[in-house]
Amino acid sequence: MKILMVCLGNICRSPMAEGILRHHAEEQGWSITVDSAGTGGWHVGEAPDKRAIRAAKQYGVDISQLRARQFSADDFDRFDRIFVMDRSNRSNVLALARNEEDRLKVDLFLHQLQPMSDAEVPDPWYGDEDGFHSVYDLLERASLAFIRKARSGTEAL
Ligand code: 4NP
Repeated sequence: MKILMVCLGNICRSPMAEGILRHHAEEQGWSITVDSAGTGGWHVGEAPDKRAIRAAKQYGVDISQLRARQFSADDFDRFDRIFVMDRSNRSNVLALARNEEDRLKVDLFLHQLQPMSDAEVPDPWYGDEDGFHSVYDLLERASLAFIRKARSGTEAL
């Protein structure tokens, strides 16, 4: 399975989500491909935000080598599932969808935790370091829920 995590800048939420999902999938012996991208292009080529790198490192997840890139319509061909962090990311990604098959791949990542809500992963960019820890916690819980559901075949496409 190939999973793409998407946020706005690809320097805070989605690289953390990429590292966390990869870490837990590996730990559980599940072989998947995980990548991340931003809907905006301002940070292309940059490493994740230092606060995101530090927060992830505290939990044993190294995201320092990741580099930001911008989401493009090709990503619909390259990935089975495209998880967006918030509703604005979802609108931006869906605006590039070419057909219903593309649209069906896109979902809010927090639907893995709360299927009936439109909960969003808050953007920690303007906040303090604590915000990165609460984002880490949310992303970890959603990643574990996704792994459990996907491996037991109950994750809805
Ligand atoms: P991210 O956070 O979408 O979680 O990577 C942001 C990073 C940078 C900006 C906005 C959000 N920015 O405006 O530059």
